[in-house]
Amino acid sequence: MFEGRSTVWLLENILTHPASTLTYIDTFAGGAEHASRDLTNLEARFRANTEPHRAKLVAKKGPSAAMLRELPLGRYDFVSIDGSHEAAACGSKQTRYYSRRSLQLHF
Ligand SMILES: C[S@@+](CC[C@H](N)C(=O)[O-])C[C@H]1O[C@@H](n2cnc3c(N)ncnc32)[C@H](O)[C@@H]1O
Repeated sequence: MFEGRSTVWLLENILTHPASTLTYIDTFAGGAEHASRDLTNLEARFRANTEPHRAKLVAKKGPSAAMLRELPLGRYDFVSIDGSHEAAACGSKQTRYYSRRSLQLHF
C-alpha cells in the first residue's frame, strides 16, 4: 500500500541522523492505475503513518512536474521516484532530477 511505508522505512533506516530531512512530492490523487482503489483520506493516512517523523518531513503537495521546479537542483543526496506509472509521465522531465549521489526509479 502507498500510505507512507517507503517513506517511514527511509526515515527509520537511512535518514537516522537528527539533521536529516526528507522532502516528498505527491498529489495524493493516485494515478490511472489506481482508478479501482479507494483513495479516500489517502493524504490523512499518509500523514498519520509518518507523524512520528513529522519534524524531518518537508511536504510538497501537487504534481511532480510542477513541484520539482520548486526544489533546488543538486541539493539532495538520494532521490527516489515512485509516482505515476503512465508512460507519458515516466518519460517526462519529472524523472530527470539529478541528485548528488543516488537516483532510484520505480517503474
Ligand atoms: C506507489 S505510490 C508511492 C508511495 C510512497 N512512496 C509512500 O511512501 O507511500 C505512488 C504515488 O504517486 C502519486 N502520484 C501519481 N502521479 C503523480 C504525479 N504526477 N505527481 C505527484 N504524485 C503523483 C500518487 O498519488 C501515489 O500516492
